[in-house]
Amino acid sequence: MKKKILALTMAVAMVSSLVACGSSSETSEKTEATNEAAEETSTETVQETDNVATQESAENKGTLVMATNAEFPPYEYHDGSDDQIVGIDAEIAAAIAEKLGYTLEIEDIAFDSVIPEVTSGKADFGMAGMTVTEERKKSVNFSDSYATAVQVVIVTEDSDIASIDDLSGKIIGVQSGTTGDLYATDDFGDENVERYNKGMEAVQALSQGKVDAVIIDNEPAKVFVQETAGLKILESAYAEEEYAIAINLDNTEFLNDVNAALAELKADGTIDNIVSKYITTN
Ligand code: ARG
Repeated sequence: MKKKILALTMAVAMVSSLVACGSSSETSEKTEATNEAAEETSTETVQETDNVATQESAENKGTLVMATNAEFPPYEYHDGSDDQIVGIDAEIAAAIAEKLGYTLEIEDIAFDSVIPEVTSGKADFGMAGMTVTEERKKSVNFSDSYATAVQVVIVTEDSDIASIDDLSGKIIGVQSGTTGDLYATDDFGDENVERYNKGMEAVQALSQGKVDAVIIDNEPAKVFVQETAGLKILESAYAEEEYAIAINLDNTEFLNDVNAALAELKADGTIDNIVSKYITTN
């Protein structure tokens, strides 16, 4: 996929000397992105098409594939009515793609798989309310941060857990592979951590008494607690974090483009507008 972007950039640069071939390359990218089995073959095809081609307009350089885990409101989640993936990340990504002249395609996978999808080149970037960590930086580059977050603790309203310290010896539910998982495992031991595929599943386990607490990011925590009776968020926050976009280590040109787009979207108020659509401060 990285090669694809380079190829596309070259195609755009060489536009004037080459012959037009319509929108076929765009079509093959869509197929490629949605059909993982055909990935390798179509990547080659796409590159060839782009090299022989063509008048790829500067306005549409093709498709950018975003890997996410759409179980994380208000950052990314399925919207009930038409099952569209919406949320802060989805909208910021769409704004970045538009600014850079791409069509955005969102791939919804397990959170654990987002970084592998980026390192393998199957996705152009990962955006999933993803916290910048030193460990993850070994596998991907992170864009400039676009949001801050804190890990919080959810407990039942009648819980005897009143602070982080009270968590010791308790069973903690987390979404697998998240920073909540990593911190809980480090601080309280693997044997005390129950991992779930979705944050909401951990929260349901809490309300069913299967775990004693859930550690998760503050904004999803608020949404989940609102949707589930009998739960509350502890006052004391567990850890502060920054969210950023994960990009393949080899793709520094794209990293720079994304950072430039992010800077513009911050400066012109687009990001604030998107955030205030989804998060009401009171
Ligand atoms: N911020 C946390 C992390 O990076 C949780 C992110 C979970 N995101 C999601 N889309 N499920 O580990």
